[in-house]
Amino acid sequence: MSNTTGKIFTTTSFGTSHGKAIGAIVDGCPANLELSEEDIQKELNKRKPGTSKITSPRKESDKIELLSGVFNGKTDGTPICGVVYNNNQRSKDYESIKNTPRPGHGDYGWRTKYGNYNYNGGGRGSGRVTIGHVIGGAIAKKLLKDTYGIKVISHVVQIGDILAHSTDIDKIEKEVELNPVRCGDQEAAKAMEELILSKKAKGDSVGGIVETIATNVPAGIGEPVFGKLDGDIAQSLMNIGAVKGVEVGFGFDVARASASEINDEFYYEDGKVYTKTNSSGGILGGISNGMPIITRIAVKPTPSISIDQETIDYEKKENCIINIKGRHDPCICPRITTVSESSIAMVLADHMIRSGFIHPNNIEKTMNK
Ligand SMILES: Cc1cc2nc3c(=O)[nH]c(=O)nc-3n(C[C@H](O)[C@H](O)[C@H](O)COP(=O)(O)O)c2cc1C
Repeated sequence: MSNTTGKIFTTTSFGTSHGKAIGAIVDGCPANLELSEEDIQKELNKRKPGTSKITSPRKESDKIELLSGVFNGKTDGTPICGVVYNNNQRSKDYESIKNTPRPGHGDYGWRTKYGNYNYNGGGRGSGRVTIGHVIGGAIAKKLLKDTYGIKVISHVVQIGDILAHSTDIDKIEKEVELNPVRCGDQEAAKAMEELILSKKAKGDSVGGIVETIATNVPAGIGEPVFGKLDGDIAQSLMNIGAVKGVEVGFGFDVARASASEINDEFYYEDGKVYTKTNSSGGILGGISNGMPIITRIAVKPTPSISIDQETIDYEKKENCIINIKGRHDPCICPRITTVSESSIAMVLADHMIRSGFIHPNNIEKTMNK
């Protein structure tokens, strides 16, 4: 298995959905970053279920405990261990999937590969495992913000066929907090919420697209040819469950465009270099160019639905029908926003250190940049 991400700023994720606890160990975070449990809790609160009608009704407190790595309110350069104890688990809901893999979920692959698979709650294949991503991401976000003022913000731009029309980043940042969809366009958010609720009423689910924008990233991070910034970001986003596609900048639309339409022309202003447009999404040649880094992920509809579906019974070796119980998300997009931010923040923090922008041992040695 592969449970660690990053080269210098590393996050190792551990735990299963219905095990005793779930969490992450973050190593390689420089000393002297002010860090509290609250910094991580506020990010976990955006990810946790049970906060609205359009997420799973599971009531999970997802309360973080920091076991190590912080001294006098600041990181001390040693591994930071964050743990969340599981306390709202209903394993009986998962009896029906013990011998019958859920269509669209990871059960079949996990059981085939590892044999001893904790199917309860989806085990290590559960969306709950992204708590580890968010712990790593919350620390990375704090490091990026406190050193370079870098912000990483996600918003839902599409649910089913409904599109959001929001472009202003400051407006998006405020507006996502005003609706449960986490969409920067209030009118679209209403229609999206209705669509999610109508799918839920039918026992079905719906997918969508989440955009993530990172601002103030300096030009010059990313390591061609096998550590390109867009390559590492795409990998980290594809490592989130339910993500089936990643775009950077213009993404798949480049296939329809002419170079004259999408080449970003350079100009100087006050001695600084900018581009007039940002079709490249802030990355050229695998290296950041100082413009906002823009990515989008395609998120599939939640696989666990309560409509009857065909599957197999491993014990009886016959075909059968599965009716999935449990309290599942009718749409994963609102909760995945924080996970996308976290995944990108972890990559950016690692590359900022690798490229020499953030001092690897002590952020005070970074501050006079
Ligand atoms: C934040 C989050 C919440 C999720 N919630 C659910 C859920 O309630 N029910 C479910 O079946 N899948 C859920 N998933 C999706 C599954 O984890 C994912 O589809 C599964 O592991 C199979 O992986 P794949 O879709 O990437 O192939 C969630 C994923 C994330 C990231």
